[in-house]
Amino acid sequence: MKEKLFELTAEQLKEIAVALQEKVNIGLEKDGEELACIPTYICPKTDGIAGKALVLDLGGTNYRAAVIELGKDGKADLHPDNGWKKDLCIMKTPGFTQEQLFKEQADLIDEICDEPMPIGYCFSYPAASQPDGDAKLIRWTKGVDIKEMVGQPVGTPLMNYLNSLNRIHYTGVKVINDTVASLFAGLTHPGYDAYIGLIVGTGTNMAAFIPAEKIGKIAGTYTAGGLLPVNFESGNFVPPYLTPVDDEVDHRSINAGNQRFEKAVSGMYLGEILKATFPEAKFEEPFDARKLTGMLSYPDVYKTEYVDAARAIYKRSAQLVAASLAGLINLLATQKPGIKTVCLTAEGSLFWSEDKNGKKYHEMVLEYLHNTLTDLGHSQIKVDITQMDNANLIGSAIAALS
Ligand code: BGC
Repeated sequence: MKEKLFELTAEQLKEIAVALQEKVNIGLEKDGEELACIPTYICPKTDGIAGKALVLDLGGTNYRAAVIELGKDGKADLHPDNGWKKDLCIMKTPGFTQEQLFKEQADLIDEICDEPMPIGYCFSYPAASQPDGDAKLIRWTKGVDIKEMVGQPVGTPLMNYLNSLNRIHYTGVKVINDTVASLFAGLTHPGYDAYIGLIVGTGTNMAAFIPAEKIGKIAGTYTAGGLLPVNFESGNFVPPYLTPVDDEVDHRSINAGNQRFEKAVSGMYLGEILKATFPEAKFEEPFDARKLTGMLSYPDVYKTEYVDAARAIYKRSAQLVAASLAGLINLLATQKPGIKTVCLTAEGSLFWSEDKNGKKYHEMVLEYLHNTLTDLGHSQIKVDITQMDNANLIGSAIAALS
């Protein structure tokens, strides 16, 4: 019966969508609001850029480094034998320092780059984009807490560190959020009325292009006009209809009060929700979203009530993502009436996960998104979800070379 706690009606999903939209509007007007709505001062070029970039991708669990070559035809080539990935959960260890992080990052780059080139750095944490292309860390999420880095630029110190090792001289660095990297990667599919970058992995967040004149908080400081990529930091949204179990998960986390949407949706927390639902039960540690989806696909060894609750938590996560997307699309449709097609570039292991005995996560998102858009009067809007290999790396290369 506990699974009933996580049920959301169509009406509630619509309310969540509208609440998200209102909070995005507030965040576009003022700094320091629930949704940070961070404009990124990098305008991606879709053609006329060519060359090589070193791309670094610091996610919530893994770190990747590779060299990407963009051709004049817009094609991206990931040098196949020189991309590396490693688990970097060690950075969540209390007391972990910036220097240790830089060292871990440099180790992976050692063998893949043999000539000067710019760096595209996909940094998956809230960071305020600077006009020079760097970004200052606002706060950590997803269990990381390297205190001395908060408030500081994240790109230039890393590039200086790499250059000080005297191997290759990197020529510049552009820092973008992973949602913005996905957004840029989506541009390789031209012809859509609107584009969205979405991540549902260890953490969650969305980005889209917003007309500069609709971003009230930069009026007077940014006068170039046009469309700006905005990282909404939607993981910090406090949606209506969270449950006492969500409060408990928040209470137990290292950043209580922050990232409430993320704590109801993303891979790092779904297992925590199940544990908080059955405080008397013993689950394997760590019990993450991968274990939770494993439980759905191979339920025989678990109690039925745990499996039912796990399936309800998984479904609610997809519904919340769908509602937040519907709220964002409703906003984009207000800004640009007549939108009919949306290209959604989605990354993240949870987003592309599946329950072998039920619906796939991304199929549930599409279904509830369509229903909520219809309830908001947008049944004509068609959303295509694109899954691109290496979207973050390609988007970061586009940023570095634009
Ligand atoms: C971060 C975002 C990031 C998202 C997905 C969140 O915890 O705040 O910046 O885009 O995770 O990686």
